[in-house]
Amino acid sequence: MAITYDEAKRLFCLTTRNTEYQIKINDIGIPVHAYYGRRIGGSDMSRQLAQADRGFSGNPYECRLDRGLSLDTMPQEYTGANVGDMRVSALELSGIGGSMSCDLRYAGHDIRHGKYTLKGLPYVREKSGAGDKTDTLEITLTDTIAQIEVRLLYGVFEDKDVITRTALIRNTGTEKIVLNKAASMCIDFPYADLDLIHFHGRHCMERQFERTAIGHDCISVGSRRGMSSHHNNPFVILADRNTTENCGDAYGFMLMYSGNHRAETEKDFLDSTRLVMGINDANFCWHLEPGEEFTAPEVIMTYTREGLNRLSGNYHRIIRENVIDGKYFDIKRSVLINNWEATYFDFNTEKILRLADEAHALGIDMLVLDDGWFGKRNDDNTGLGDWFVNEEKLPGGLKVIADEVNKRGMKFGLWFEPEMVNEDSELYRAHPDWALADPGRKPMLSRNQMVLDMSREDVRDYLFDSISRVLGSANIEYVKWDFNRSVANFFSHKLPAERQGELGHRFVLGTYELLDRLLKAFPKLMIEGCAGGGGRFDAGMLFYCPQIWTSDNTDPIARLKIQSGTSYGYPPCTMGAHVSASPNHQTRRGTDINTRSIVAQSGTFGYELDLSSISDEDKNEIRKQIDDFRKYDKLTRNGDYYRLNGSGSGDGFTCWEFVSTDRNEALVSIVVTDTEANAKFPYVRLRGLDEDSIYSIEGTDTEFTGAALMYGGFVFGELMLSDRYYKDEYPSMQVHFVRKDI
Ligand code: GLA
Repeated sequence: MAITYDEAKRLFCLTTRNTEYQIKINDIGIPVHAYYGRRIGGSDMSRQLAQADRGFSGNPYECRLDRGLSLDTMPQEYTGANVGDMRVSALELSGIGGSMSCDLRYAGHDIRHGKYTLKGLPYVREKSGAGDKTDTLEITLTDTIAQIEVRLLYGVFEDKDVITRTALIRNTGTEKIVLNKAASMCIDFPYADLDLIHFHGRHCMERQFERTAIGHDCISVGSRRGMSSHHNNPFVILADRNTTENCGDAYGFMLMYSGNHRAETEKDFLDSTRLVMGINDANFCWHLEPGEEFTAPEVIMTYTREGLNRLSGNYHRIIRENVIDGKYFDIKRSVLINNWEATYFDFNTEKILRLADEAHALGIDMLVLDDGWFGKRNDDNTGLGDWFVNEEKLPGGLKVIADEVNKRGMKFGLWFEPEMVNEDSELYRAHPDWALADPGRKPMLSRNQMVLDMSREDVRDYLFDSISRVLGSANIEYVKWDFNRSVANFFSHKLPAERQGELGHRFVLGTYELLDRLLKAFPKLMIEGCAGGGGRFDAGMLFYCPQIWTSDNTDPIARLKIQSGTSYGYPPCTMGAHVSASPNHQTRRGTDINTRSIVAQSGTFGYELDLSSISDEDKNEIRKQIDDFRKYDKLTRNGDYYRLNGSGSGDGFTCWEFVSTDRNEALVSIVVTDTEANAKFPYVRLRGLDEDSIYSIEGTDTEFTGAALMYGGFVFGELMLSDRYYKDEYPSMQVHFVRKDI
């Protein structure tokens, strides 16, 4: 059992292979956060949390004579508000008589084998079959005056160094309670001096690494866009000031949620740092009738003392094995051609089948028909919501195309944007009240589209029926599920006035429900997530969609930063990545087809360009690239991934490595981003190899020990001395190391 409870000390100890997490129930029933870090053998760390009278930090009534004890200075697991802890709180409410006070005290606990699940929300699942060692701790807190109960859930994945957390909040009284904030978790670090690492961005430049020293007062990163957003990912790292890619303490917190979110850090007057994470309280309030319960989304936490690469590795493993549906774990990925950057809206059946022919001749095995096949959609101003085929463009419907594509031995996939509607659509004309808009106010438009009210059952039923009809009309094995604007005008025509603050969350629950329903109805279907590129790249979506389109920016040089930023939390096998045209359509930058391919091969590989316009030489390269991708498929899908030179290193190149889990092979890729005259040779140290084994570079008799490659390092002399270095502006290469003594 990974969870123990010492009755005498009232101490819970959650232990994983390398980490330990302690919670102490103190004398007045507060769940004190006593410790999170490397394993320390169960020593009661709450002893280290001595308190003193600090002045202006008041005392709970029952310890008014013991002035040292204050909620304001106590590290805690979950906090109410308005009762003496002046830091950011996890739970804020308006309760009986309008009281905003909430003072949560221990009422009991339960320890059980296996990992809890959540209803209606994604969660980290126990691996089926051989399985993980998982346990659950449930601590019940109550406030008998506010008549509220909070159950804190902890799921311990012993072998994976992961602990999940969430909170279930229930009205145990007889009067309505309004939750104004209902975070998933709170944690305090009394002695650490920490940096906050988070991933900000914008459309076409998602998940940029930013590291900030946490000073006094609050830093808040989040989204109010109704989606997890391009702008701030629901994932943060707290790291020691000296932590690097390869050593030092790092704590990760990833919210498994696709809507408005917020992570708040606050360093208080005693230099203790608090993190509160959960649904963003902006535009949020939730009514709890007597007996009703609110479930906060889950947070995936991990800790390592081995730096950011290891932290990422922990996330990659848990996402691959426990977040993504197990049925996708060991399937080979299809190399796809997507027609978006090849044709945009300008296509018909003939053009698409020509693209299929060209793709087939190169060895591509899936064709994805993107935006523009439905309604009257010939540009991005009309048709969203009308999920029936535009027979003028595609006579005979999708079946004609799917059958022809299948005849060539390829699969067929299709684009949808279910949660959206255009004003100029049959759907909107029939149901204007299905779009989010305040009464009497014109809604904000973005890409000239509105957002459907996913909290409504009739909207979800319409989407389920119309999408199912299309999916049933032809052999469609893959769906790209898009979401092309931020949400505003959070107002539902169906919800009562006092429940409008629930819309943001009900919207997300509605999307999850629709995804779940469609996947159950079409069990062979694979859905790729997308939101104007990577605007909804989060663990919530990954629960349903094993891969997500990483960015609308397909320029490989820009992608290096985007994919590297994404890799801190998410494994490469989840990142949609395509080879597109040169010059690139977003940046106008020209790059060699092999550089484009090396970058795209570190994701779910595919092509997105007009194949009829490229040279025979490039076509031959594409054939080789596809062979390479298939050869390395398992290694890049399930192998361990390392960033060999850190974010913003200023090295002038980016280098990364995949190592197979049995350490028998490694694939190292490098792209030089700043070519210089008389340049230094790029140099890196490999990671994850077996020290004592001999590795050779495939196709040569050059041999090294694993130790030599990891501690002595590797120099890309061959690249620098090759003709390519002088031919390409962004020279790149892959080196495949193979273990010899096996
Ligand atoms: C979004 C997607 C693109 C493409 C377009 C179609 O921007 O990210 O890949 O599907 O929509 O409108």
